[in-house]
Amino acid sequence: MKDSIPSLLRAAVSFVFAAAIAATVTPVRAGAATPALPQMGFNNWNSTHCRDEFDEAMIRGIADKFISLGLRDAGYRYVNIDDCWANWQRDKDGHLQPNPKRFPGGIKALAEYIHQHGLRFGLYSSAGVSTCEPLKENRGFPGGLGHEKDDAATFASWDVDYLKYDNCNNQKVDAHKRYTAMAEALRNSGRTIFFSMCEWGENKPWLWAGKPPVDAGSWRTTGDISDNYASMLKIFKENVVLDSYASLGHWNDPDMLEVGNGGMNDLEYRSHFGLWSIMAAPLLIGTDLRTIKPDALQILLNKEVIAVDQDPLGVQGHQIRDTGGIHVIVKPLKDGSRAVAVFNETDAAHDVTVTASELGLKAGQSYNVRDLWAHAQSKGDGSIKIELAAHATAMYRIGRR
Ligand code: GLA
Repeated sequence: MKDSIPSLLRAAVSFVFAAAIAATVTPVRAGAATPALPQMGFNNWNSTHCRDEFDEAMIRGIADKFISLGLRDAGYRYVNIDDCWANWQRDKDGHLQPNPKRFPGGIKALAEYIHQHGLRFGLYSSAGVSTCEPLKENRGFPGGLGHEKDDAATFASWDVDYLKYDNCNNQKVDAHKRYTAMAEALRNSGRTIFFSMCEWGENKPWLWAGKPPVDAGSWRTTGDISDNYASMLKIFKENVVLDSYASLGHWNDPDMLEVGNGGMNDLEYRSHFGLWSIMAAPLLIGTDLRTIKPDALQILLNKEVIAVDQDPLGVQGHQIRDTGGIHVIVKPLKDGSRAVAVFNETDAAHDVTVTASELGLKAGQSYNVRDLWAHAQSKGDGSIKIELAAHATAMYRIGRR
């Protein structure tokens, strides 16, 4: 039987098999260089906020799901925890400490568990005197303002790989100063820690956050997302016009994903995921992966859409049309092809035509057109003609090869 398989095919099969094994057992080196492509991972905030279910057991369960659901193999790497992880006070020496109820095993042990899964671990703080969530007696959890060196050293000692640094309770200290202080402290901490600024776009961070001395990996461009279509749409519109400020290693961040949280339908969640991908946004899953429904998981695991987000050319898509509620965004890709998203923001279906010349494609040529949601290939002249349902986004990859 064995000999009836052509040898080339056999070689290909065993290569795929070897690659599959490598993908499951090769751990990502903890503390390895931070990625230049938009960060992918998970953050608990959109699904739990500060509720009691946010604890050590949950986060360990999420790391397990990264492996069993195929998320690590799809490129998701970071398991990040948000506000409410800390204790109400610093310890007697002024160091941050975890809330003993939520994280009885401590943060270092949690980071180790996540690293053992070949994943990276992220933590949260705020560039203010306290963080954003005032749960009790109007007290917040301790923030990093004025404690940058000490806190960065603590994060490094816990083997943290990523810091989301928020903007609450900032005492109106200049944002550039506050974020520079933490950026420098992280760089001097002895560990590579990805710096994710969460300044909500208040001081136009796209103009300065990607450059030294801050040199952040990403910066939030907007206020918080909520799990509804109007919120997603508003944030998309604010972020899509900022494409010229993004570059490899320095990304606009329109906030974390709501896919799977139940407030939008599947077409809207596809739009959310597709639009974030064509905007080369960080893809941080914001739903509880322990209970995720298959339809939502399928959206998050669409490798052809993820490949648009993660394309090594590192360009955020550019909006070439915004009329009558129809948006067309084009993202050039490393192999010379381009990704195209056509989004219908309106509440009614629309017939949409996009010409090849609008997409910057030469007329009179034959192109391969790949539908990234249908996973179907066709040949054409590069133009797109579709009927697009309300709130839907069609996505294509168009090229000569
Ligand atoms: C701010 C941030 C959110 C989240 C909360 C936590 O609102 O923008 O992403 O981190 O704080 O309190």
